[in-house]
Amino acid sequence: MSTQNPLKQSLSSAKAASGLKGVIRVPGDKSISHRSVMFSSLAEGTSHIRGLLEGEDVMATLAAFRAMGVEADGPSNGELTIKGVGMRGLIAPETDLDMGNSGTAMRLMCGILAAQQFASKLVGDESLSKRPMRRVTVPLTSMGARTATDENGCPPIHIRAVDSLEPIDYKLPMASAQVKSAVLLAAMYADGETSVTEPAPTRDHTERMLRAYGYECEVEKISDQVTTIRLRGGGKLTATDIDVPADISSAAFFMVAASIVPGSNLKLEHVCVNPTRTGIVDILKAMGADIRMTNPRAIGGEPVADFEIKYVGLKGCEIDPKLVPLAIDEFPILCVAAACADGVTTISGAEELRHKESDRIAVMVEGLRALGAEVQEHKDGMVVTGGALGGGEIQSHHDHRIAMSFAIAGAVASEPVIISGAETVATSFPNFVDLANQVGLNIDA
Ligand code: S3P
Repeated sequence: MSTQNPLKQSLSSAKAASGLKGVIRVPGDKSISHRSVMFSSLAEGTSHIRGLLEGEDVMATLAAFRAMGVEADGPSNGELTIKGVGMRGLIAPETDLDMGNSGTAMRLMCGILAAQQFASKLVGDESLSKRPMRRVTVPLTSMGARTATDENGCPPIHIRAVDSLEPIDYKLPMASAQVKSAVLLAAMYADGETSVTEPAPTRDHTERMLRAYGYECEVEKISDQVTTIRLRGGGKLTATDIDVPADISSAAFFMVAASIVPGSNLKLEHVCVNPTRTGIVDILKAMGADIRMTNPRAIGGEPVADFEIKYVGLKGCEIDPKLVPLAIDEFPILCVAAACADGVTTISGAEELRHKESDRIAVMVEGLRALGAEVQEHKDGMVVTGGALGGGEIQSHHDHRIAMSFAIAGAVASEPVIISGAETVATSFPNFVDLANQVGLNIDA
C-alpha cells in the first residue's frame, strides 16, 4: 500500500518561525470512516459517504469489502458510493485480506467475518502482526466462531465458515471500543440477544451508526462508568448517507501545536465532538490551554463544532485516569504537550497504550528522552517534567501518531527533529505535512 504514499521515509521538523495561524479542516474521522464502509457494504441499498478519510487504514477496509464482492465508486475528494450487498451478500475472498497497519480494521472485520458462511484470513503489516487479537477471538469463539491466531495471539487470523452464531452476555475485560464493536458486529448474526458491558465509556460510533442504518440497539447506563449495550441478531441495515466530520484525533496535533508555539491563533473546523472522544479538550484545559469550542451543531448522528486555540502556555497536571479511554489516541501528542508544560504531568491508568500501533508508553519515553526531556516510565503511564526540548533523531516504530507527535515537538525544539519511519503518517492523516506547513510549521517530508 505504500506505493500511494505521498510521504517519504522520514520527516524533518524544525522550529516554527512564529505562531501558527489560519483556519483548517483536518481529514475525516477514522473510526467513523471505517464503520461507514462496513455498514454501507452490509446494508440493503446504495449509501453515499462524504468527508471519508482516504487514509491507508480505511482503504484497507474498503479493499477487503471489494474483495468480497462489494461494488464501490470512489473515493474521490472524500466521496464514496457503496452498493450494499445485504447482511448475507458477501462472497468468499480469493486472497488474504490485508488490513495493513489498522487494528480497527482487523478487529472489526474479525467480528463480521467470524459470522460468515465462508472462510477468510486476515493479515497485517509488521506493527499489526504484533498486536493482541485474543481480545476479539475469545468472545467471538464463545459465540461459536472458529478462529485461530498465531501462538502469541497475534495475526494472521484464520477464520473458518460457520452457519450461525450464538448470542452472549459479555463483560469487556478492558475499555475497548474495538472489542465492543467486534462483538456487536458479530451479534447482528447471532440467534438471539447479545449484551456487551463496558467497564468505562469508550467511543460509541458503532452504536450511533447502527441506529443511523436502521438497526436497533439498546444502550443502558448502569453507572457513570459502566454501560450495557444490547442487540438482537437477525436484523438488517438500510443504506443511508453519511457526512463524516473531521477527526478530533488528527485535530489534536494542531490543538497541542497551537498551545505550545508562542503567538499561535488557530481555528479548526467541523471537528467531531462526540463526548466519548473529547478527553483531549478536557486534558488540555486542565493544563491551562486557551481552547474554545464554537458553533456546536449536529451532523448526522454526531455532534460537531469548531475550535479556536490561542497560545497561552501550558502547565503540568495529573491527568484523571477516567479521561484515558476518552483520549486514548491522543496520548502521544499529550506527552509532547507535557514535555513543553511548566511543571510535572502524570499519566496513569493508561496501560492500553502499550497495545497500540507501537508500545506508546515506551516509544514516547524513548523519544522524549532523545530530545532531552526528563521522563519516568511506569507500567501504566509516565511522569513528565516540562522543560526546553533539544533536537534529535526519533524512531517512529511504524506508528503514525508517534511520527506526527514528534513533528509537532520539532516546532519548539532548539534544533531540528529528524523522524524515521514517517511513511505511516498516511495511514490516518495523508495531508498532515501540507496542512502543518500551511499554518506555519516547518516540516520537510
Ligand atoms: C478505535 C478504538 C480505539 C482507538 C482506535 C480506533 C475504534 O481502540 O485506539 O484508534 O475505531 O473503535 P481501542 O478500542 O482498542 O482502545
